[in-house]
Amino acid sequence: MAFSQDELKQQVALAAIHYVKSGIIGVGTGSTANYFIEELAKVKNKIDGAVASSEATAQRLKDHGIEVFDLNAIDGMDIYVDGADEITEHMHMLKGGGGALTREKIVAANAKDFICICDATKYVPVLGKFPLPVEVLPMARGYVARELVKLGGQPKLRDFTTDNGNIILDVHGLNIPDPIEMEGKINQIVGVVTNGLFAARPANILLLATHEGVKTITK
Ligand code: 5RP
Repeated sequence: MAFSQDELKQQVALAAIHYVKSGIIGVGTGSTANYFIEELAKVKNKIDGAVASSEATAQRLKDHGIEVFDLNAIDGMDIYVDGADEITEHMHMLKGGGGALTREKIVAANAKDFICICDATKYVPVLGKFPLPVEVLPMARGYVARELVKLGGQPKLRDFTTDNGNIILDVHGLNIPDPIEMEGKINQIVGVVTNGLFAARPANILLLATHEGVKTITK
């Protein structure tokens, strides 16, 4: 049976509800995460609330009657649920298409399990076809761009300001055979807040929506 990409996103969002037991849920950003919020709203009586990875997600959670907690007011959480722009069999992800990568990485760091919800188009053998987002302090834009060129990429300034008041450079053409190494190298450039490689801390569970049903992949 053939489904549209939106139908696949909806199915995988619903599958993630199986992991929602109680307490506080970390919630990602993007269209797949938005479907998850719709499903989460249906079981909101089971949970205390959520921590949001962006202002947009916080607003959407509130609109659905789900309490939003400040990350500093809580002591971690069991699960963080979010989409990705690309993910490999090693559970390394490339994220930040929606520009929320820094807060996503921070909230995810506070969760025991990262549950990645994707449709099968996001499952790739190697990361980097999707331009890698890098959040940068505005004054460091030129310097960071030159350093990214030295790493083999072509940075392009996105017409966007992050929730943290910074800019995004989308880096095209990067060869990323070792995502953990590349994540560290880019984060070492002065002026970089963080980059969209989520490899040092990969996903623990991948729910992958295919035309044959949602597959569960764990590591
Ligand atoms: C936002 C993200 C998203 O998870 C990623 O862009 C996937 O988005 P979508 O679910 O809309 O395909 O990292 O910063």
